[in-house]
Amino acid sequence: MEHLECVFCNRHYSLNIFNPFCPDCREPLLFPIVTREEKILFDKSESLEKFINFLPIEQLDQNLFLGEGNTPLLPLQNLMSKFDLPLLYAKDESRNPTLSFKDRGTAVAIQKAVSLNISKIGTVSVGNMASSTAAYGAKAGLKTYVFVEEAVSQEKLLSTCIYNPFLIQVKGDYGNLFEKSFSIGKKHDIYFMNSVDPFRIEGYKLAGLETFIQLGQKAPKYVFVPVSSGGHLIGLMKAFRDLKSRNLIQEIPKFIGVQADRCSPLAKAYRSGKFSFERIRNPQPIPYAICNPNPPGGNIVLKWIRQNNGIITDVSDEEIFHAQRLLAEYEGIFCLPASAATLAGFLKLSKNLDLTQNNTTVLVLTGSGLKGLKLLNISKTRIFHSTISTLEHTIRQIV
Ligand SMILES: Cc1ncc(COP(=O)(O)O)c(C=O)c1O
Ligand SMILES: [Zn+2]
Repeated sequence: MEHLECVFCNRHYSLNIFNPFCPDCREPLLFPIVTREEKILFDKSESLEKFINFLPIEQLDQNLFLGEGNTPLLPLQNLMSKFDLPLLYAKDESRNPTLSFKDRGTAVAIQKAVSLNISKIGTVSVGNMASSTAAYGAKAGLKTYVFVEEAVSQEKLLSTCIYNPFLIQVKGDYGNLFEKSFSIGKKHDIYFMNSVDPFRIEGYKLAGLETFIQLGQKAPKYVFVPVSSGGHLIGLMKAFRDLKSRNLIQEIPKFIGVQADRCSPLAKAYRSGKFSFERIRNPQPIPYAICNPNPPGGNIVLKWIRQNNGIITDVSDEEIFHAQRLLAEYEGIFCLPASAATLAGFLKLSKNLDLTQNNTTVLVLTGSGLKGLKLLNISKTRIFHSTISTLEHTIRQIV
């Protein structure tokens, strides 16, 4: 029988896939640190196969793979020169099958769903998790139910609809929708693999484990992660906790969570020294993915960040869009504003960090800019206009 743990009361519970929360603390339950021998299978090429010993999955069904993982760790050489920085890397998670890190988690949760003969899955999403869950649901031939906010953008709707799930746009508070999905799931046997699902979080670990290998089996000094629900940061931290418990690294990297300052409940709680966050009521709509007013993993993030001497910061829209352009113009990387927030946070905090020569920083870039084309400002784009007959003249002027 699989056991999950509450990191607040330390009690263990047997797995209930339809309601993975502590009945007393109401916090998400997680898999405890694995205690069996965790060998990395270097001879395997698929990311899930390589790290199977770090996952709560007995056997992998290869028919469910969509080519997730094995994403590059790119040195940001031009930005290092521009800002005179040592060792800055981007872990580019936009290379996943539906262009975001969410596929790491969905890939593991779908394995569990199929092994349990579950026929209906679902998710609550502001965008990236919707398309990820719909894609894996389609691949597995499962009925997939996706709840999105009423205000979801056209591009996010279309990139989900193409997989043909049951998609419902729901009016009302997004924080309440998350809770409601679990009561609906229990009643109708739908496994809601939401943002802090324990299997999803185990999948998120793999980007951390790959980073460890890509750095020559070393941990970075700092990892910057954009934070909304908190699930991704929890998973990445868990990767390094697993490695430390196996004595494969000496120290867990310092994690820095980054939020958008227009809705940053965790950065606010961190700054005021609190151990739990306050839900933000009536938040203004923000068109990118790091703005959950009631993050379900928020209290775990606060607890672990404090234990880790990490930081939770927030950045303005201006800082985010400036960082998005820097990554594109200097490094050829087009990521979502939510992902660029990591660079914005890094530039904001770099003076306070210990950036000596061997201290590596990794920015986790969570999703592709192609998922947020509408957020770009066309008026800031340099375009020359010409006809075929005046093209030679135009080029001469530019050259
Ligand atoms: C592109 C992107 N980055 C970061 C996040 C935040 O991840 P989490 O909700 O796991 O904290 C999301 C969540 O939707 C996202 O879509
Ligand atoms: Zn508890």
